[in-house]
Amino acid sequence: MNQAPEAILLVGGKGTRLRPLTVRTPKPMVPAAGVPFLTHQLARARAAGVEHIVLATSYLAEVFEPYFGDGSDLGLHIEYVTEREPLGTGGAIRNVASRLRSGPDDPVLVFNGDILTGLDIPALVETHRSCDADVSLHLTRVDDPRAFGLVPTDGTGRVTAFLEKPQTPEEIVTDQINAGAYVFRRSVIDAIPTGRPVSVERETFPGLLSDGAHLQGMVDSTYWLDLGTPHAFVRGSADLVLGLAPSPAVPGRRGDRLVLPTARVAPGAKLTGGTVVAEGAVVAEDARIDGSAVLAGAVVEAGAVIFGSLVGEGARIGARTVLSGVVVGDGAVVGADNELRDGARVWCDAVLPAGAVRFSSDQ
Ligand code: GTP
Repeated sequence: MNQAPEAILLVGGKGTRLRPLTVRTPKPMVPAAGVPFLTHQLARARAAGVEHIVLATSYLAEVFEPYFGDGSDLGLHIEYVTEREPLGTGGAIRNVASRLRSGPDDPVLVFNGDILTGLDIPALVETHRSCDADVSLHLTRVDDPRAFGLVPTDGTGRVTAFLEKPQTPEEIVTDQINAGAYVFRRSVIDAIPTGRPVSVERETFPGLLSDGAHLQGMVDSTYWLDLGTPHAFVRGSADLVLGLAPSPAVPGRRGDRLVLPTARVAPGAKLTGGTVVAEGAVVAEDARIDGSAVLAGAVVEAGAVIFGSLVGEGARIGARTVLSGVVVGDGAVVGADNELRDGARVWCDAVLPAGAVRFSSDQ
């Protein structure tokens, strides 16, 4: 097999659906299973043989380089390119073209920065090479395609259309969706217009198709999760800890829980379902935490019950408080005896007094 290609990672989005986690931290830097989510993607790319990666940054661009440096800790050579104005997915790809080393016909990998997947990266590159495609796309099958753009293919896997989110049952012509990983022929990247926002999904791909270009789909039904929403992010972190989602970058053994060095968990506390407790965090006696992430320096007081939730950096959860499907922003304080459920988002540094919110009449 030929040498693995270089890669572009798109990490400049505002991550609005993930607020308040993305108020101070860009989505790819929010910790999942104890390390910034991007670490998992970088480590998987490295494991697939990729050595040169260009990060296309925009929103909160300044935080990436201090953390990852030149990438040598991960065995990578990482470069950073920041857009002056956000250029969208296609514009961001074009904007980093000058840093690519590939020749015009060489394959270049492109990854969305918020996808957790077990995709067989070399197989996608091999499909691209053997089909001599202009762009090859990882496609995944979903049970309910209504929330996604659909990508039907013919019997050989060649893409036949890019369809917007289906509105009626008749419009659901396939369960295949764009999974956010591509291989581009280098010359296709150079042909994307410069200096203005371009959406690769809405403009570049449909345009290439109508010009008769060869777009190849590769369905890979391995683990796949778009971490764009709080619910999905918390699920992804737990799946990494449990070992359901593959990553060489989880800092510890896979299992029911991951407690990072310098975290303190009381002997009577119960951590299950892929819960991670990050550096310097404290979990007190009789707390129960399932399928959740407690970020660095956060405090969970005695008897708190936390399911499928994320507790932000330095946040505090009071005694006996119940969180289920909740995101608590960095530095927020949820006083004792609260009950928060189903999609509640507590903003960074907000303070909720003791007993302020309940979903039931019991005390
Ligand atoms: P939402 O605001 O919650 O939709 O999230 P998002 O801003 O991340 O948008 P989306 O999930 O559609 O983005 C897909 C991928 O492209 C993510 O990895 C983003 O970081 C990235 N991305 C989106 N827009 C831009 C952009 O203008 N510039 C760069 N460099 N990356 C972008």
